[in-house]
Amino acid sequence: MRCMAEQRIGLNEYLGQAFDRIPVAMVVVNQKGEITRLNQLAETTFGYTSSELIGQQVEVLIPSRYRPAHPGYRQGFLAETNARPMGAGRDLSGLRKDGSEFPVEIGINPVQTGEGPMILSVILDLSERKQSEKRIQDALQQKDLLLREVHHRVKNNLQVIHSLLDLQALKSKDSELVDMLRDSQNRVRSMSLIHQTLYQSQNFAQVDFQRFLGELLPRLTEAYGSLSNQVRIVINAHDVKLPINEAIPCGLIVNELVSNALKHGFPAHQAGQVEVDIREVEGNWIELSISDDGQGIPDDLDLARTDSLGLQLVNLLTQQLHGQLEIQRAKPTRFSLRFQLDTAS
Ligand SMILES: Nc1ncnc2c1ncn2[C@@H]1O[C@H](COP(=O)(O)OP(=O)(O)O)[C@@H](O)[C@H]1O
Ligand SMILES: [Mg+2]
Repeated sequence: MRCMAEQRIGLNEYLGQAFDRIPVAMVVVNQKGEITRLNQLAETTFGYTSSELIGQQVEVLIPSRYRPAHPGYRQGFLAETNARPMGAGRDLSGLRKDGSEFPVEIGINPVQTGEGPMILSVILDLSERKQSEKRIQDALQQKDLLLREVHHRVKNNLQVIHSLLDLQALKSKDSELVDMLRDSQNRVRSMSLIHQTLYQSQNFAQVDFQRFLGELLPRLTEAYGSLSNQVRIVINAHDVKLPINEAIPCGLIVNELVSNALKHGFPAHQAGQVEVDIREVEGNWIELSISDDGQGIPDDLDLARTDSLGLQLVNLLTQQLHGQLEIQRAKPTRFSLRFQLDTAS
């Protein structure tokens, strides 16, 4: 028995020391709301010595605006039997001796003691956590701004190239060369529009393709305006969002195929319709189709062997997307591309 008693004293002492040294602030409060005990970290956290606080109402540790309501809460805590966090969902503050406030998280534990029921509150000082959260938030905001700025500059640079090609086209009397320059101009512009769509959107990782098509297609009809007065363009973009590494090749493909439809599909001011349809289907696949009800691809044109730049580009970009391209030559002329949405980026 003697041995047990000694052990018990040892344990109490040990627990007492642990209470003092544990690296969280702890304050014990009795039924009347008086502080009966606190540990070392509670002293340094609030800036008081133990003797200054023992016997004081616990309300000295909270900002005065919260004091009136506090005794009511205290009665509630005493009635509980389980530990729980205090003020769930609210931002809690502690008040130091020097009058400064700091954000806290508090756990409430009802305890039965020889001196009656008490509340052991465990107090975490969140000042540092909040500060580093703010630092991370600020850094993130800066990165966002920077990214927006970069997209903006890339777009501007591409626009400069666009204008240079324009100037060159104006200086040339060779109509074949002018056509080539105009095609390249449109390619540059479709890339520039991708960057524009990105910096105008909330999410820099995703290009809203509907928005992009809404910008690109009217400009293409303008560029091939004299050829396509009678041609209507229909866009069906079913809320498709692409990461930039796929948006650029996909945007260029649309640029090539719609240009072709406008340029080659409707000779002699024939009327008709070009339809661009893009959708996401089961399994993260993207299906893009560009069709026109024009005259169709000439029978004597061998699509596998053509050395014209437009279709070569389309093939190259399809490979880049690891996609598959199917072509229906007429009634309607349709290019259908299928590729896997890159969900990793
Ligand atoms: N939608 C279309 N309708 C009719 N012909 C087309 C269509 N798309 C492509 N073609 C034919 O395929 C050829 C190759 O196209 P492309 O490689 O883009 O070269 P380019 O547009 O410079 O002529 C075109 O010259 C045209 O004869
Ligand atoms: Mg072409």
